[in-house]
Amino acid sequence: MQSLRLPVVAAPMLIVSGPELVIAACRAGVLGAFPLGNPRGEGELDAWLERIERELAEAADAGESVAPYVPNLVVHPSNTQLPAQLEAVVAHAPEIVITSVGSPKNVVPALHDAGAQVWADVATVHHAERALEAGVDGLVLLGAGAGGHTGWANPFAFVRAVRERFDGTLVLAGGVSDGASILAAEALGCDLCYLGTRFIASAESRAQPAYKQMIVDSELDDIQLTDVFSGMNVSMMRKSLVANGLDPRDFGVQGASGGPLYAERNPGGPREWRDIWSAGHSASGIHDVAPVAEIVDRLEREYHAARAALRERLR
Ligand SMILES: Cc1cc2nc3c(=O)[nH]c(=O)nc-3n(C[C@H](O)[C@H](O)[C@H](O)COP(=O)(O)O)c2cc1C
Repeated sequence: MQSLRLPVVAAPMLIVSGPELVIAACRAGVLGAFPLGNPRGEGELDAWLERIERELAEAADAGESVAPYVPNLVVHPSNTQLPAQLEAVVAHAPEIVITSVGSPKNVVPALHDAGAQVWADVATVHHAERALEAGVDGLVLLGAGAGGHTGWANPFAFVRAVRERFDGTLVLAGGVSDGASILAAEALGCDLCYLGTRFIASAESRAQPAYKQMIVDSELDDIQLTDVFSGMNVSMMRKSLVANGLDPRDFGVQGASGGPLYAERNPGGPREWRDIWSAGHSASGIHDVAPVAEIVDRLEREYHAARAALRERLR
């Protein structure tokens, strides 16, 4: 993608991604994504889209090289706002739309008619094949250890298995927080990387300061895989469970049929996403909260240093 400084997507994140983060990412030269469910009030979705488009157009008019913004449509049946969100996206006609948590089949025709590429996030080879049958232009491969709802596949095996079937755009999600990992993903055959957790700990994210600091204070070993919130695997910070008076040992993976969900057992208790915070394995590589522009500058330096080191090693 030509307007990109680095093959990076600032990944869409519930609550965390707002216009400030999206605009900062696009102005820093990487794709800025956000879930269309984040704007909550009446008319707010259109206001976000208009603000993002206006500020990016102003930056481009001032001579900046600006990357596209990328709306994220959650296509799970529980998203009752999907028809309104689809209508708004079609009206704004962005270059790329990413679908998540379900089959993109029902939204691909309308998005293609609006001129958008559709990338679908998938966690298994089977779902990758189904998304390709639905006509998507790209796939986001959710590997093990991603923040939010995570996959469980080993990224080496997952990327190679999908590359055997598809030569379009591939994005690797999960565990990426530095330039060496971006280069490694390219070596595997990916076009881009998703970075979520790295951008939670940015000045422009809408996460609370204590959430950002908890990512800085967490290691890979502090990330807990659990399905008790929704029946789907999600990565949560153990420190956040403890901060809410909960015992991380009660939050394992029970299998989707493994009994009542957390909210049913604890009505009125702390809520996932709002009170109990998510982060991925990449937390171990995050040591500060910084402005997006500084994070992207650093990623670029690391990426070029990793390339130079690899070239040296291969001589
Ligand atoms: C707090 C949080 C909220 C998320 N919300 C969404 C979402 O609304 N839609 C989506 O497609 N992915 C969501 N994700 C997943 C990210 O887009 C991405 O796949 C993940 O952060 C990549 O792994 P990383 O955190 O290790 O970089 C979320 C992740 C986090 C940490």
